[in-house]
Amino acid sequence: MKKVLVNLKMYQTSKEEVEKYINDLKGENVILFPSFIYLEKYIENGFICGAQNISTNCVGAYTSEISVKSLKDLNVKYVLIGHSEVRKNFNEKEEDINLKIKKALEYGLTPVLCVGETLEEYNNQKTKEVIKEKLIKDLDNIKGKVIISYEPIWAIGTGKIPKKEEIENIVKYIKTLTHQEVLYGGSVSLDNIENLNQIDVDGFLIGKAGLDVSCLKKIIEVVSR
Ligand code: 13P
Repeated sequence: MKKVLVNLKMYQTSKEEVEKYINDLKGENVILFPSFIYLEKYIENGFICGAQNISTNCVGAYTSEISVKSLKDLNVKYVLIGHSEVRKNFNEKEEDINLKIKKALEYGLTPVLCVGETLEEYNNQKTKEVIKEKLIKDLDNIKGKVIISYEPIWAIGTGKIPKKEEIENIVKYIKTLTHQEVLYGGSVSLDNIENLNQIDVDGFLIGKAGLDVSCLKKIIEVVSR
């Protein structure tokens, strides 16, 4: 079955909000990526969880960073690496991404590597070139299971998505290059999930639409058909 992953970003900012979400969503087949501070709560309530980032280091004088070792200790199973918001806001480099993937694998977490093109690159038909370049650097010397999420940067939070055939083409391309599972992410919603679900993809990485539990349940229902 296709996987449904939800990147909760920094959308949930109170215990009450998190408790309500947990109660409403309990029992659904979904992988959640909440804020670090709520990870434990979700895991205690039986959810399979991933972190939104990790440090390139494991232990030591790294103020504000989160170690993969602590995540492993909490029973976190996945970690998002190279999300475009992290690449941009933290000036994350391909070498950091490569190190983070290695750290995750070393501690038995499954990395979910996000790659995608800007609108300018898309318009200039550079998508494949850009993705290939990122994948070569990000996956250099990596052995093990890495889930790849194709996330066109211009599709994140905009309500715009590439044509079905374009996603199909890129997903196939990434599969050929990496022989790994490939997801699609970027403005996945209740309006487009029927259409997106026809693509030969291993699942979806959902942002905003995953916050509304009734909407998310309907999306899960479509994907699990
Ligand atoms: P949206 O679904 O809000 O566009 O976010 C997608 C995303 O960034 C998933 O990681």
